[in-house]
Amino acid sequence: MEGTIQLHDKQFVPFLSSDEIESDIRELADKINQDYKGKEIHFVSILNGAFMFTSDLVKHIEIPCHIHFLKVRSYEGTISTGVVSNIIGLTEPLENKHVIIAEDIVDTGATMQHVYRELGQMSPASIKVATLLLKPDTYNGEVKIDYICRSIPNKFVVGYGLDYDGLGRNLKDIYQLK
Ligand code: IMP
Ligand code: MG
Repeated sequence: MEGTIQLHDKQFVPFLSSDEIESDIRELADKINQDYKGKEIHFVSILNGAFMFTSDLVKHIEIPCHIHFLKVRSYEGTISTGVVSNIIGLTEPLENKHVIIAEDIVDTGATMQHVYRELGQMSPASIKVATLLLKPDTYNGEVKIDYICRSIPNKFVVGYGLDYDGLGRNLKDIYQLK
């Protein structure tokens, strides 16, 4: 893992290595494999941030699964605006399906609340939430976050799908604002 990196005007320092992320994800996939035995899963990945997490997670899923992607947006720079725009991209019906929402990070929870509510209106058999990261100090949502790889302090992070104004998504490790 490299040292300090610069994205736009800000510096970031190493926080979670790709090895740590990988082993967290394997553990989480094992739990899902246990919990969904005999069922079929519909993963709903929240773009853009969750693309890498979703891709690595589903590689370890041994249950038959579908993978959907949808798009929402609530961040400007490093601050959550709390305003979540409408969902685009989900075209298939989820009625009577077992849905797992895959998210990169749950911060205030506004995004998750919105997505959860919208998907709930599609009459799925069940909805659970899987996130790579959770910021428990800022989370004030009502949605239960069922699967969490890691809880982290309230500091802005980038890498592994997470961006700072468009940059940093490609990094295999996760970095924290210096
Ligand atoms: P929330 O709606 O406040 O929970 O924010 C969730 C969304 O904001 C996530 O889908 C992320 O894409 C983005 N986000 C939250 N915290 C961070 C961060 O530390 N770095 C990069 N993106 C973040
Ligand atoms: Mg996201």
